[in-house]
Amino acid sequence: MLKLSAGLALLALLLLAVSFVPWRGTANSPAVDASVEATGAGAVAEGRALFLAKGCPSCHRHDDAGTESGFIGIGPDLTNYEPDPEFVRRWLRDPQAVRPTTVMPNLELDETEIDALISFLGS
Ligand code: HEC
Repeated sequence: MLKLSAGLALLALLLLAVSFVPWRGTANSPAVDASVEATGAGAVAEGRALFLAKGCPSCHRHDDAGTESGFIGIGPDLTNYEPDPEFVRRWLRDPQAVRPTTVMPNLELDETEIDALISFLGS
């Protein structure tokens, strides 16, 4: 009897611990949640936020986004870049698949993030 209640108490504690996991996950990714409904001007702002959050400015200059202190500037200036959405989509999904020798890393962006970044780059 004692063993059973101790087991149940342990199970309850475990469930309690597990129930906190998704909450912490949501709290850590507000930008991703916000990007789901991004359209139009919202998508441009979201794209700009992503451009900063994903570290693009460490390699790319863009006059509408601040340059990070760790700027190494190995990528092209994207201020007046006119994105071909089809190409940029393929590029951001997996730069090495387009140009195997590129040093631009695959930033594991999802499709919503890519849409927002294309809106920002084309704005
Ligand atoms: C570690 C440095 C680095 C980071 C971080 C980086 N890039 Fe790049 N990116 C490059 C380099 C270098 C190129 C030049 C293409 C090549 O290597 O041939 C490039 C090219 C590009 C191009 C132009 C492709 C073309 O040829 O038209 C776009 C658009 C681009 N990056 C967007 C982004 C975005 C958006 C981010 C952030 C999500 C990002 N980059 C993060 C290094 C980087």
